[in-house]
Amino acid sequence: MVSKISVVALLAVAALAVPAPSTSSDRYVWTVSGYINVCTAATCYYVFNVTGEAGPSGAPSFDASGCSGNSLQYAFKSCATLGIDVPGDVTTDEKSLGNRANVFVKLAYKKDGVAYTVTGNETTPNGKDPRVFNIYPDAISAVPDKV
Ligand SMILES: *[C@@H]1O[C@H](CO)[C@@H](O)[C@H](O)[C@H]1NC(C)=O
Ligand SMILES: *[C@@H]1O[C@H](CO)[C@@H](O)[C@H](O)[C@H]1NC(C)=O
Repeated sequence: MVSKISVVALLAVAALAVPAPSTSSDRYVWTVSGYINVCTAATCYYVFNVTGEAGPSGAPSFDASGCSGNSLQYAFKSCATLGIDVPGDVTTDEKSLGNRANVFVKLAYKKDGVAYTVTGNETTPNGKDPRVFNIYPDAISAVPDKV
C-alpha cells in the first residue's frame, strides 16, 4: 500500500528527474532510427525503431522496433517488438504538420509498485529515406500501480 505522502514525494522526485543535467552529453535521450514518413493527400504513414538507455526514476533501457502507424490514428499504438527488462510498453503516434510531422513516443513501465509514463516528441521532415534523430523526453508521471 503506497501512502498519499509517498506518492506526492515520488511525483516531486519524478518531476525533478527529467530536466537536463549540466552537460548536453549526459542528457536523457531516446534514439529513433530508420524513420520514414510517407504521405498521400489524406494521410501520412510512418515506421521506425526507437531505443533508450536507462534513465531517471529507474527508467529501464529498451529496444523497440516496428513502431508504425499513421497520422489519423489519434491514439498511441504499441511497437511490434519490444525488448525491456521490467513490465512495460513503448507506444507511438504522430501528427502531420504539412511537410513535417510531430512524432510522439511514450514509455510506460512498472517498478516497485509504481506505474511510470515518460513521454517525448520531436518534429521532423517527411521523407522516405530512413533517418536517425533524437527525442529528449520532457514529461514523466508516476502513480501507484494497481495490484
Ligand atoms: C529495426 O529493427 C529491426 C529489428 O531489430 C531490424 O531488423 C532493422 O534493421 C532495424 N532498422 C534500422 C533502420 O535500424
Ligand atoms: C513536445 O516536446 C517539447 C519539448 O521537446 C515539449 O515542450 C512539448 O510540450 C511537447 N509537446 C507535447 C504535445 O507533448
